[in-house]
Amino acid sequence: PRKIIIDTDPGQDDAVAILLALASPELQVLGVTTVAGNVPLALTTLNARKVCELAGRPDVKIYAGCNRPLAQDLVTAEHVHGETGLNGPVLPDPTMPVQDQHAVDFIIETLRAEPAGTVTLCPLGPLTNIATALQRAPDIAERIAQIVLMGGAYFAVGNITPTAEFNIYVDPEAAQIVFASGAPITVLPLDVTHKALVTPQRNEGFRTLGNRVGVAVAEMTDFFERFDIAKYGSEGAPLHDPCVTAYLIDPELFSGRYVNVEIETVGQFTRGMTVADWWGVSDRAPNAMFIGDVDAEGLFALLRERLATL
Ligand code: BDR
Ligand code: CA
Repeated sequence: PRKIIIDTDPGQDDAVAILLALASPELQVLGVTTVAGNVPLALTTLNARKVCELAGRPDVKIYAGCNRPLAQDLVTAEHVHGETGLNGPVLPDPTMPVQDQHAVDFIIETLRAEPAGTVTLCPLGPLTNIATALQRAPDIAERIAQIVLMGGAYFAVGNITPTAEFNIYVDPEAAQIVFASGAPITVLPLDVTHKALVTPQRNEGFRTLGNRVGVAVAEMTDFFERFDIAKYGSEGAPLHDPCVTAYLIDPELFSGRYVNVEIETVGQFTRGMTVADWWGVSDRAPNAMFIGDVDAEGLFALLRERLATL
């Protein structure tokens, strides 16, 4: 199996991404690292523990990371995820531990300990932990197999400002460090995730999987929908973060282009924008695989198949 570290700010969609990874033999989750994002760090860490216990995996190692972005105050998204970050299902208070080690130290130590090119990072929130690790230990950049992240947008522009996607917007300086690191990067932007919509039928598909996880996932996406359907008038909420773990399990579901991506950090209206050179009109060298399309039916079939096994 492919070794991964999931860096996350759960978040209902983060939760589904983690559940999918834990249900998939292709992936070996070395650890789950938490970051401040959708809600403050204490809550994202609590939620990560709840999700691992929901999956029946209290053995997963969870490491708490950075509690604020590199250069600005934390922006959160309770308006989307609810005040707990994981509103919807009622999940029991977790008893599994949080590891003593800081997430950034865990990321650095793991990348140094494992053979080079064997550990993939899966950021599902602001890039603060990953950037801090790269800053503190530049030698890890060339040891990373891949960074497969949810963030940014091109044609779909922004969801937190007119031009910026939430994960990048919360910590643009961190995103810039990651995109300039030279590590191989694959981006799952809003362009993709807004095609992965939880329609009422797909929601029912989760609810009727026959296990506790299916019901909990349906309750999560039910809550999540309130915001997105009202806002975008779409037929369901975009299931952002599971696109990352699904990509690692079955990349054939996705297609994109290898392009240059720069992070806007100074624009008055565009701070946090992913400036992706989709049409190759600049002479800047490509640095990221920017995914543009997904087989949504295939994605939801994969989710149902795997989540049913938990
Ligand atoms: C991203 O922002 C968060 O609210 C979601 O969990 C996802 O990672 C979508 O813009
Ligand atoms: Ca997230």
